[in-house]
Amino acid sequence: MTISNPGLEGVVVADTAVSDVDGERGHLVIAGADVEQLARTATFEEASARVLAAGAGAPVASAAGPLGAARADAWELLPRLGDALDHPDGMDALRTALAHLRPADAGATGDPSNALRALGAGPVFVAAWSRRRAGQPPIAPDPSLGHAADYLRMTLGREPTAAAVAAMNAYLVTVIDHAMSASTFTARVIASTGSDLLSAMVGAIGALKGPLHGGAPGPVLDMLDAVGRPEDAERWILGELAAGRRIMGMGHRVYRVRDPRAAVLEEAARPLSSERLELARAVEAAASKILRERKPDRPLAANVEFYTAVLLDAVGLPREQFSPTFAISRLAGWSAHVMEQRRTGRLVRPSSHYIGPRPAA
Ligand code: COA
Repeated sequence: MTISNPGLEGVVVADTAVSDVDGERGHLVIAGADVEQLARTATFEEASARVLAAGAGAPVASAAGPLGAARADAWELLPRLGDALDHPDGMDALRTALAHLRPADAGATGDPSNALRALGAGPVFVAAWSRRRAGQPPIAPDPSLGHAADYLRMTLGREPTAAAVAAMNAYLVTVIDHAMSASTFTARVIASTGSDLLSAMVGAIGALKGPLHGGAPGPVLDMLDAVGRPEDAERWILGELAAGRRIMGMGHRVYRVRDPRAAVLEEAARPLSSERLELARAVEAAASKILRERKPDRPLAANVEFYTAVLLDAVGLPREQFSPTFAISRLAGWSAHVMEQRRTGRLVRPSSHYIGPRPAA
């Protein structure tokens, strides 16, 4: 008898040097470094070079200069995007904007230099989309700045504080890759057909958009707003569960303990002294307690999205920009996986179990 496995749990589809998730112990290794150490010590540029080198199987000298130059190039492409940035949803805007690029702009061959060009486009396009939503003109990139600082400056229209830049950098590094996530698998499937890097990124953004994957941080902030006060957390959580809804930012397909990225982002958000941090801790404690009682056999703890919401709100981003900001970072991980998949030269083509009618014999 054929037994299908629609969630593909436990199916190993690739050998990868890009990252590793230990869901039982709550460890994440990114190209040889613990996420905790990388988030504290690396710039996004350094982390990008690291994952791209892992994916390419060859050293990548430096991403700092090329990323700044790539943001400047992306700025020149803005006029070509037409109404792509008019989408009300930021993920749709980023997906459509990247789809407007030509292979010559970024990503034809999917080598590290092409990947860096696509990575440069992310913050420029998302910041321009965000400002357009607010009725403001876009702000040109400053290639001399770091990726995190320039992204904040292009979005906010002012010099960000050092604390905000540090927090944004820690966020971008923390979410740069996460093994075989749904969007990464999507990118790898597209790459396996011999398609181009931009197509893989566009497909991956579509996968990341869903609330079960990268679409949760905006709703987490909505939840914190709805709870309002720490003492109301338990009552609110019970009401949500009674209505048959899931608690956003809680649970994970792979982790059986708290997502290590939640701790990294909680720590990174602390210097920003956001009022929401205390509220978030109270809501997490209430949700963990109640979900433990409801599902004693299925550990459901905070995932990366929980403190993403607090951190990105505290640096001044509107909640609609949270998921596209996740994508800006993950473009690096997807690129690394695309290169790695290409090196296998193997088409991904699984099987299905037919349950429909068959013609009469
Ligand atoms: N709130 C309430 N119940 C939850 C839950 C949550 N956040 N996450 C899982 N559950 C419940 C499921 O409803 C299921 O209950 P059932 O057995 O009565 O049907 C049970 O726990 C087991 O869930 P499971 O199917 O094993 O989870 P999954 O591996 O398919 O899902 C997520 C993982 C991330 C999709 C899921 O935890 C979720 O939807 N979380 C909220 C969205 C979110 O934060 N997404 C960002 C992920 S990084």
